[in-house]
Amino acid sequence: MTDQIALVLGGTSPHVELINKLKQRGYYVILVDYLNNSPGIAAADQHIQESTLDKEKVLQIAKETRASLVISTCIDQANSVCCYVAEQLGLPHPYSYQTSLDVTDKGRMKRIMTEYGISTSPYTLTTSVEGIDWDKVAFPAVVKPVDCNSSKGVHRADSREEVLRFVEEALSLSRTGYAIIEGFNEGDEIQVDCFAGQDGAQVLMTRQKKKIHGGNGMVLQSTGSIVPATLSEAEDAQTKEIASGIAKAFGLKNTPFFYQAIRTANGISVLEFAPRIGGGLSYYMLRNIAGVDSVEIAINSFLGVESDVKARAVERHYSTNLLYMKPGVFDHLEGVDELKAEGVIYESFQMKKSGTEIDSDLRSGNRVAAFIVEADSPAAVREKEKQAYRRIRVVDAQGNDALNREVNF
Ligand SMILES: Nc1ncnc2c1ncn2[C@@H]1O[C@H](COP(=O)(O)OP(=O)(O)O)[C@@H](O)[C@H]1O
Ligand SMILES: [Mg+2]
Repeated sequence: MTDQIALVLGGTSPHVELINKLKQRGYYVILVDYLNNSPGIAAADQHIQESTLDKEKVLQIAKETRASLVISTCIDQANSVCCYVAEQLGLPHPYSYQTSLDVTDKGRMKRIMTEYGISTSPYTLTTSVEGIDWDKVAFPAVVKPVDCNSSKGVHRADSREEVLRFVEEALSLSRTGYAIIEGFNEGDEIQVDCFAGQDGAQVLMTRQKKKIHGGNGMVLQSTGSIVPATLSEAEDAQTKEIASGIAKAFGLKNTPFFYQAIRTANGISVLEFAPRIGGGLSYYMLRNIAGVDSVEIAINSFLGVESDVKARAVERHYSTNLLYMKPGVFDHLEGVDELKAEGVIYESFQMKKSGTEIDSDLRSGNRVAAFIVEADSPAAVREKEKQAYRRIRVVDAQGNDALNREVNF
C-alpha cells in the first residue's frame, strides 16, 4: 500500500511537531512553504516552494500530489486555505471555508460575536476616512485593519486626528480595504485556550500577558505570560461562558481554539479568537502544564476523528519569558544551563540561530530566546524570573551582553 500524502502549509517551528506526528501516523509529508530556510523543511519528506496563501496554487498542488490531507494548525490564513482546498476536493477539514473567513476578518468576527451576545467592545467599520460613522466612535478607541495579524496597524487613538491618521494606515494595510474602530478596553490581557467538543466547550488553560513597560496602555508586544491567569471566581466562570458562546456562535465542534480578552472592571471583554492551537510556546505549555496534546487534537480535528480531551487542573504557577535583544548580531546564550540545573529555570528555548541580525523593534521576530519558570506561588515565580533575568546573558557577536532587560522591569 502506498503511503497517504499529507500537505502541510507553512514550515514554522510549531509545525515541526505536526510534521513529525503525521510521519508517525504513516503519512508521506509534503511541506508547502515559499521560504527556503524554514524549520519545517528538514522535518518533511519533501518541500515544494510555493506560497501557502495562494489557494488556487495549493489546490493545484493538492491535486497533483493526490494529497488526502491538507493541514495547518497554527497559521490563520493557511488554515483558511486548507478549508478551501479540502472543500473543493472533498477532503476532511475541521470547519467550513466560510467559517474560516468569518474568523480571519475582524469585522465579520465582531458582527457574529455581537449578534450572539458575547461580551466585546462596540465597533464600527469603514472603507474610507470620509465614511467614518463618528456617532459610533468613543474615546479612547482602537483602530485596526480587519485582516492583518501580529498587531500590524493596531493603534490606540485618543482624538479625531489620531483616528483619521490610523484609519488611513489601516486601510492601506488591509487586503479587503476595511478598517475597524472599536472601544478601548482597560485592563490585563488574557488568553484562554479551549476545546470545542461535540456538546459544548471547555477551558484548557488560562494565561495573562505580561505588559511591556512604557506603552500607552495597550500591550502591543508582550514579554511573556503567567499561567494560570489570576482570575476571580466570577471571571473564571465568565471565561467558561465565553468559550461556550464562541463555540456555539461559530458552530465549532471537535476543534481546539483560543481567545484573547481583556479583564476590565466590568468583566471580561473579548478581543478576538482563533479556531486553532496557538503558536510559539503554546504547544509546550498545554502539554506540560495542562496535560493536553494540542497537536494530536488538531490532527484529529482535521481528520474528523473525535478526541477525548481532559485538561488537568493547573496546581502550580508558571511564567513564560520572552527575551528580546538590543540591536546587533545574536551569537549565543550563557547561564541557561546552570539556572536549569539549579531549578531556577524549568525549561529554555533558543529561537534564533547564531549569526542572526536583530534590529531595534520589539517585534515577535526579535525574540532570541525564552524560558519558563515554575513555583508554588506567583510571588515565588517572580523571584525566580528576576534571578534568571539577572544571570542570563544574550551574547552578541562582539562578546557583549545584549539582553534587553528594560522591557521587563
Ligand atoms: N479594544 C482593545 N482594547 C485594548 N487593547 C486592544 C484592543 N484591541 C487590541 N488591543 C491590543 O492590541 C493587540 C493586537 O490586537 P488584535 O485585535 O489581537 O490584533 P492581531 O490580529 O494583530 O493580534 C491585542 O493583543 C491587545 O493587546
Ligand atoms: Mg491578536
